[in-house]
Amino acid sequence: MDFSFTEEQLMIQDVARRIAQEKIAPSAGHHDQTGEFPLENIRLLGANGLMGIEVPTEYGGADMDPVAYVLAMIEIAAADAAHSTIMSVNNSLFCNGILTHGTEAQKQTYVRAIAEGEEIGAFALTEPQSGSDATAMRCRAVKQADGSYVVNGKKSWITSGPVARYFVLFAMTDPDKGARGITAFLVHGDREGFGRGKTEPKLGIRASATCEIEFNDYVVKADEVLGEEGQGFKIAMGVLDAGRIGIASQAIGIARAAYEATIEYVKERKAFGQPIGAFQMTQAKIADMKCKLDASLLLTLRAAWTKGQGKRFSNEAAIAKLTASEAAMWITHQALQIHGGMGYSREMPIERYFRDAKITEIYEGTSEIQRLVIARHETGLR
Ligand code: CAA
Repeated sequence: MDFSFTEEQLMIQDVARRIAQEKIAPSAGHHDQTGEFPLENIRLLGANGLMGIEVPTEYGGADMDPVAYVLAMIEIAAADAAHSTIMSVNNSLFCNGILTHGTEAQKQTYVRAIAEGEEIGAFALTEPQSGSDATAMRCRAVKQADGSYVVNGKKSWITSGPVARYFVLFAMTDPDKGARGITAFLVHGDREGFGRGKTEPKLGIRASATCEIEFNDYVVKADEVLGEEGQGFKIAMGVLDAGRIGIASQAIGIARAAYEATIEYVKERKAFGQPIGAFQMTQAKIADMKCKLDASLLLTLRAAWTKGQGKRFSNEAAIAKLTASEAAMWITHQALQIHGGMGYSREMPIERYFRDAKITEIYEGTSEIQRLVIARHETGLR
């Protein structure tokens, strides 16, 4: 077993770290407070290959492997989680599914625009009444004689919804068939019949814009169907497997930032005549933070490696996301406690890490859904 990274992997990590530290970290607090979408930085990430890390060069990407994606995501998330949310949706949820199931023309049109950072992509699965139970969706797409579809319905919690040009949409084409009656479509945000709701106010990742989207007799052309009719649920689940590696990486980035700030703080801050890091109660917290951080990283790299081998990686991705997101919540909580009043203050980024970490336990499958996926895999029972 080789724990070292290749030159290519280290190179993309280095590019991501440089942009994260020079361009993203200095304005992370501003973006958090104003909720302003960081379009300029997203374009810069795209121009440097970070919006299509696993996308082949013929479609405008960096043509790297899933391990490189993990390393780059961690660097961006450590500077600002909101940037890494936008990056993760573009890379995993948007490009991944089209690369696997799209036609050549679809890859050239949709993947290239996102991978090069020219446009923003989004993924529309969740609805107001259906989140974890994705097959309970009500959005309907009705096939017409010419092969086009007419779509009506609502999707909610759409990351990048307010700014995205293109969406991968999942809609029911045959409600009697349940999961096998769902089809995936490629949708344009600037066409008639498409509407965007208000931007949601959120606890964390505030600069990653989120909204509801609505379809009123929106027409999807025949060549805008992604994959086969009825294949949509499996496409969504496969894409979410990849997405969960991205969210695990995001959680690691947030947790690492909180951990590193804590190490600095416990060496400087004194109480009762010594640095607080010399107290055993602080030391125990530091040791547990480090163990959870490293365990999360190793499990996420395992999931990415398995994906890179072309094997099914649903279980590995669920284990990585569950472990890393719960670790991020725990680590940012401890970081805040150790920083005391300074952790609670908006003068330092610790409270932002704490707020940002929470979403990793919720989106792209809650912790409860990850436990369900893992337990079903381990027992064969459902
Ligand atoms: N890969 C490929 N196929 C899969 C799959 C996977 N990972 N998981 C399930 N399938 C297939 C099954 O094999 C089955 O196929 P057959 O019909 O041929 O047997 C079919 O899909 C249905 O599977 P299940 O019976 O297991 O489906 P279920 O209704 O019990 O649901 C679930 C399973 C795990 C609960 C799933 O619904 C799930 O993951 N829910 C969570 C949804 C989610 O993560 N939502 C996040 C929203 S996106 C988001 O957050 C976006 C954002 O903007 C950041």
